[in-house]
Amino acid sequence: AYCAAAFLAIFLPPFCFLPFCMSSCQVKVTVIGAAGGIGQPLALLLKANPLITELALYDVAPSAGVAADLSHINTPAKVTGYRGDDQLPAALSGAHLVVIPAGVPRKPGMTRDDLFNINAGIVKGIATAIAKNSPKAFVAVISNPVNSTVPIVAEVLKQHGVYDPKRVFGVTTLDIVRANTFVGELKGADSQTLSIPVIGGHSGVTIIPVLSASGHTFSDSERETLVHRIQYGGDEVVKAKDGAGSATLSMAFAGARFANSVLEASVLKKAGVKECTFVKSDVVEGLEYFSTVVELGAEGVAKIHPIPNLSEYERKLFDAAVPELKGNIQKGVDFVNKS
Ligand code: NAD
Ligand code: LMR
Repeated sequence: AYCAAAFLAIFLPPFCFLPFCMSSCQVKVTVIGAAGGIGQPLALLLKANPLITELALYDVAPSAGVAADLSHINTPAKVTGYRGDDQLPAALSGAHLVVIPAGVPRKPGMTRDDLFNINAGIVKGIATAIAKNSPKAFVAVISNPVNSTVPIVAEVLKQHGVYDPKRVFGVTTLDIVRANTFVGELKGADSQTLSIPVIGGHSGVTIIPVLSASGHTFSDSERETLVHRIQYGGDEVVKAKDGAGSATLSMAFAGARFANSVLEASVLKKAGVKECTFVKSDVVEGLEYFSTVVELGAEGVAKIHPIPNLSEYERKLFDAAVPELKGNIQKGVDFVNKS
């Protein structure tokens, strides 16, 4: 697609006035938290994406070195590092997509909710800057706890009168990547061909793997083991890293996949691009946000698919997820409106 756009730009300049080419010619993606464990490999994968023409790397820590390093790669994106509050507006201005992996990661023994006290304030500050500098951008929230940070972003954007529920996403893609990997390994299937829905939220029991939609069958014990591993895959990595953080490389892969899906749908106008993502949704009564399969389009969320058929076992997972999710969401909403 990039080649096609470049061809049009070089040989048929008038076509650059067409909406397709205008949007595909200027695609700025901003990574907030770009110097971190996720931020750096995510920036690398985004730099390899030929749809991106400008990559803005922002962090409160130094990001100039990361930007200089990536800028030597011969792909189209022009890379710029930004640091500190003064440079945040420039990092965000004109962004098509803002990806947020800013904040602290877990250490062994912590839940994602234990990160709330620090990350809620960080995400609130970033959302405020987005409201002021890039209110039309698509926003992909990676910072944990996602079940609460997505409502925080939404509430801040609402306060500034710029909230578009179709444009704010919680990135749960790593749960789907894990489900595909673990089922592929168990069944000897090519995990790249699998597309297992993982719905609900992104923490422990709120993660609902819908293995009944995987096209494979499982014994009770296989299913128990798989569901537990998908729900607690993050803990597996936290434990293995032994105090040095949580998933970064697999998250960068998942984040880049999600970003690419948003860009394919919104820039290339590709039809039928689908991802599970935690968005404003009314598929579950009483829950303002929920992740199911979402079809992406030019304006973000194009269609929210309903909850797939659930087995009796999955229905119990769902029942356990709902109250926990409700509390997580309310905590995020209250943080913005009551503090
Ligand atoms: P990290 O500590 O390695 O990196 C975080 C970066 O954020 C650091 O460079 C830090 O300087 C920066 N930062 C802190 N405050 C900032 C601010 N106000 N503005 C801009 N940048 C700021 O952590 P990490 O391993 O990259 O993880 C980041 C977050 O992503 C954590 O909250 C983690 O729990 C979460 N995470 C989410 C998923 C998911 O599936 N959604 C997966 C893995 C990790
Ligand atoms: C993950 O699922 O790996 C992330 O949410 C990070 C974590 O804290 O487990």
